[in-house]
Amino acid sequence: MKIVGIAGSLRKGSLNRALLQVAGTMVPEKHTFEVADIADIPLYNGDVSEAGIPEAVKKVYDRLESADGIVLASPEYNYSVPGVLKNAIDWLSRVDPQPFDGKAVAIMGASPSNLGTARAQYHLRQILVYLNAFVVNKPEIQIGGAFAKFDKEGNFTDDKDRKYIGRQMQALCDLAAKLL
Ligand SMILES: Cc1cc2nc3c(=O)[nH]c(=O)nc-3n(C[C@H](O)[C@H](O)[C@H](O)COP(=O)(O)O)c2cc1C
Repeated sequence: MKIVGIAGSLRKGSLNRALLQVAGTMVPEKHTFEVADIADIPLYNGDVSEAGIPEAVKKVYDRLESADGIVLASPEYNYSVPGVLKNAIDWLSRVDPQPFDGKAVAIMGASPSNLGTARAQYHLRQILVYLNAFVVNKPEIQIGGAFAKFDKEGNFTDDKDRKYIGRQMQALCDLAAKLL
């Protein structure tokens, strides 16, 4: 199966981009993992949408459409989903067939605060209900105090959390297999 990941932060040094890479290493070996970058997606504009879907959206769409499972690793901004991720989802949802429909999705996030993006994750789940995606329920991956969990080279140092990330990737592949 093919698993595609999206990070909800455009920062080079993003904790969540790094977390997504950790998730990629924990996808069971018989499956593939790749990242779809949302950095070039413009702000949603209905007029532009009517004229045609922008290339940058199509690029991400093609990856997601051919995916069996999707991983969303996102920060929390003001207790919710960052605009860049919501904007990307809004664009993607205007392409027919929309690429989250009936797909298995895993949500994870890292933040310096204690709750590890928990509030944003529940908003993201709500958005995914409308898009008819099937979100992995357990385990939830909410990495709090995240700056302390990556070393200077950007390596993830928390083995307990790594184990949970591995379990979530297994759960994502199991759910994707059931939905085939
Ligand atoms: C606009 C903005 C809002 C933020 N709001 C929250 C928040 O509600 N909860 C939280 O835990 N962290 C919040 N933060 C801090 C982010 O968790 C922190 O910047 C984190 O490193 C962003 O993720 P990234 O490293 O993947 O870019 C906020 C940061 C920004 C820039």
